[in-house]
Amino acid sequence: MSYQNSKVQETAELLKSRFAELENKPEILKATELRALYGEIPTLPAEQRGAFGKELNQLRAELQRMVDEAGDQAEALPPIDVTAPFDVNTPSNTRPSLLPSTNGTKHPLMTELGLVLDIFYRMGFNAVESREIDDDYHMFGALNFPEGHPARDDYDTFMTHETDANGKPLIAPAHTSTMQNRVLKKYAEQLDKGEAIACLIPGRVFRNEDLDARHEHTFYQLEGVYVGRGVHAGMLIATLKTFLQEYYGKELDVKTQPFYFPFTEPSFEFALSCPFCDKKGCNVCSYSGWIELLGCGMIHPNVLREAGINPEEYTGFAWGCGLDRLVLMKYNIEDIRHFESAKLDFLRQFS
Ligand code: DAH
Repeated sequence: MSYQNSKVQETAELLKSRFAELENKPEILKATELRALYGEIPTLPAEQRGAFGKELNQLRAELQRMVDEAGDQAEALPPIDVTAPFDVNTPSNTRPSLLPSTNGTKHPLMTELGLVLDIFYRMGFNAVESREIDDDYHMFGALNFPEGHPARDDYDTFMTHETDANGKPLIAPAHTSTMQNRVLKKYAEQLDKGEAIACLIPGRVFRNEDLDARHEHTFYQLEGVYVGRGVHAGMLIATLKTFLQEYYGKELDVKTQPFYFPFTEPSFEFALSCPFCDKKGCNVCSYSGWIELLGCGMIHPNVLREAGINPEEYTGFAWGCGLDRLVLMKYNIEDIRHFESAKLDFLRQFS
């Protein structure tokens, strides 16, 4: 299309050649040259304004058409075959690139989890990761919490509006014990072959807690499950003591006191001698010499039965330990909330 007015014609040629180069085609409609010509209209003698304005509108409409056609073409492009092999001739500046790994570091909890897993692998355990959304059955039912049992309230559980197939709210797991039933079922056939079930289950858990230096709403637990023939509480204590001595790199004393969990019988609270002061008393152990670290016990027969394991034939132990607390003590960190704070000056100390 050509234009009578020489200024409009010149601008049309200029903008069309720029259009060919433009990546973002609609930008041509915002060209300053086009706007400047519109701005000239009021300065023209009255009798020229109509014709000039009309040509400008025609140019604008022509550019709009070009933009629309370019858009249609882009939509008509054949889909990319994502399974095609990578073309080594792709210029380096258009290849996917990675951020430099020096921009970040591993989170200290994940580094420590790696060390914990290594110790348990050496003790013959395997590992299964927990999950971040679960249901009422795995949180309570499979763990011998009867419907309406007051112990359900101890877990300050976050629930979603979405419900499961039974109409019960889904749950952000408040402990990794939600995995016990799954792990027991998954490995039950090993028992028939004479092999024990030995599984460590790390996972993120959530509780509607009042927050302070020792309580965080989101933290990690390490669940342990061990089932076999003739398994007894002495093995539980020895397993945890061996792990803790290896993790802290020193001899420790341990002790248990009676406790209550619906899913273990008997249940214990497990304490270790303070790895900082060796029972002399310091601020880490609140001058008691001992640190109450975790809950544990012999797996309740109902929990084994629910997973299809005969409690007359097999027995087992389980524990749930906070990873954050283990690490807190290892490095004498004063506030558990640092872990989820994303504070770089905290995190970089561990890089
Ligand atoms: N799930 C318990 C809690 O978070 C901890 C626990 C206690 C886990 C005893 C166990 C266990 O596996 O046997 O408070």
